[in-house]
Order: sequence, then structure tokens, then C-alpha cells
Amino acid sequence: MEILKCPVCGQALERENRIWRCQNRHSYDIAKEGYVNLLSARKSGDTIGDNREMALSRRDFLSKGYYQPLAQAVTDCLDTYSSEGDTVLDICCGEGYYTAYAAARLDRRCYGFDLSKQMVRLAAKRRTSATFFVANIAAIPLMDDTVKAAFHLFAPFHAPEFRRILTDDGVILTAIPGRDHLYGLKEILYDRPYRNDEKAPPAEGLIMAERLRVKGELTLDSREDINALFQMTPYYYHTPSKGMKRLEERTSLTTPIDFVLLVYRKA
Ligand SMILES: C[S@@+](CC[C@H](N)C(=O)[O-])C[C@H]1O[C@@H](n2cnc3c(N)ncnc32)[C@H](O)[C@@H]1O
Ligand SMILES: [Zn+2]
Repeated sequence: MEILKCPVCGQALERENRIWRCQNRHSYDIAKEGYVNLLSARKSGDTIGDNREMALSRRDFLSKGYYQPLAQAVTDCLDTYSSEGDTVLDICCGEGYYTAYAAARLDRRCYGFDLSKQMVRLAAKRRTSATFFVANIAAIPLMDDTVKAAFHLFAPFHAPEFRRILTDDGVILTAIPGRDHLYGLKEILYDRPYRNDEKAPPAEGLIMAERLRVKGELTLDSREDINALFQMTPYYYHTPSKGMKRLEERTSLTTPIDFVLLVYRKA
């Protein structure tokens, strides 16, 4: 069964060669990289959020495996909460690092989407078995009750849509920064660094089923990797110049990474 739906009329989409089409003849071309743009307004979020340069620097950083413990924990969790042939979805997949990691290790029907066409293009270029599309979390072009396990990393949360697409026994995993996450970086940036509060996002209509901690330590020994990590964090946008200067002088950096994986079910 196809689970993609037409963003204009809500009917199921069927694939015909290089086109997804609904009963009402609305059609969506499959780009040469293999993804499809399902934004109803046909306007992708390329102008908001991270630019291409930041996307590429994040891709290179992630591909070095620095966040592999998180990718593995997410994959293990998807494995626990879904079975062979089930649908798994990466919400706000970015350039597809975690989608590709899970798709390569699990026998599932994997999907990933993001608002940014730029990101989705990079994800689709990975040539995994996953299906990628451009869409907004506020109107996910998937039929109701179709996703067994969704995951959502470092992106805006939209509980009503997440709830709608999950099967009755489905789950959604999200990650929040743990207490000690990147403390080693914050010690350089701030005179008075603080620990994270581990506050869960508001998740109306969802109940927390499990909370798992993923901890590790990173050592970066190039300016390039230090910069790439810094750019991936919210601190990039509000660090005093004194802190920036201290970071620019560093040629190596060791820091804990600490994530809390939250697993939600439908209430
Ligand atoms: C910090 S990145 C995380 C990407 C990926 N999950 C990862 O961890 O590598 C946040 C992503 O959310 C996407 N995003 C922001 N608002 C969105 C929306 N309304 N709908 C879909 N994606 C959105 C951005 O384009 C960006 O790729
Ligand atoms: Zn239609």
C-alpha cells in the first residue's frame, strides 16, 4: 500500500514511472536524485534555516561518525518498536544521515522528509533504500495511521500531525540534549557555562513510554571539525565575541555528548 498522499486533495498517490499521481490527476515529478516535492505551495524552506554551506559542513561532520552512538541508539529503538516491513519515518531528516544509517540496518520501509529541498536533495543523493520527499511538519503528506515508528531529531515538534500519522500502536522518538551535552564546548564559549535542563517538548495527545540516555565523549582535533560542530549548535547564534575568540584559538576539543531519547505513544 502506498502511504504518500496528495497535498492538494488528500487522495493516495500512486507511482507511475517518474511521477507520483492521485486519482484527481494532480501529479508530482520525481527529481533526478529520486526525491519528490510534496509541498502544496511548491515553495521549499530553502530560504529559512541552515544554508547549503552549513548543510554540507554538517554532512561532513556526521559522516565522520561523531554522532554514531546516537544513530545506533535510534536504530536500536526503531528495531525494538517496529517489525520487518513496517513503515519508519525520519521527520525533518536534514541531509539524511540518520535516515541512511537506519535504512541500511533495518528491514523496514523507510521514508524521510524535510522542508528544505536542498537538504532533501543531499539525502536522496545517498542512494539508500529510503524514499525522500519535501514537506512541512505542519501538513505531512502521509495517510492517517500508517507509520509504525517515526523519529525526529533536533527540529520543531508538531504533536497533532505526529499523532495523526502514527498507527494506534506506533511510536515517535525524539532526542533532547542531556544535562552534560557539549559541556566541553560551552566551557570555552561562556564564562559561566550551564547544564541543560532536559525539558521535554510539549506533546499533547502523546504519552511518554520510555526515556533512554545516550552518552559518549568526542575528541575533535581539527579546526574544521570544531567549526562544524559549533555551527550545528544553537550557541552559534548567540555567543559573545570573547567566547568566539577563545574557540577560534582552539585546535582540539574534548567534550561529553549526552542525549536523552524520548519515546512517545499515542495517548
Ligand atoms: C538542525 S536540523 C536537523 C536535521 C536532522 N534531523 C539531523 O539531526 O541531522 C533541523 C531540520 O529541520 C528542518 N525543518 C525546520 N522547520 C521545518 C518544518 N516546518 N517542516 C519540515 N522540516 C523543517 C530544517 O530544514 C532542518 O533540516
Ligand atoms: Zn490530488
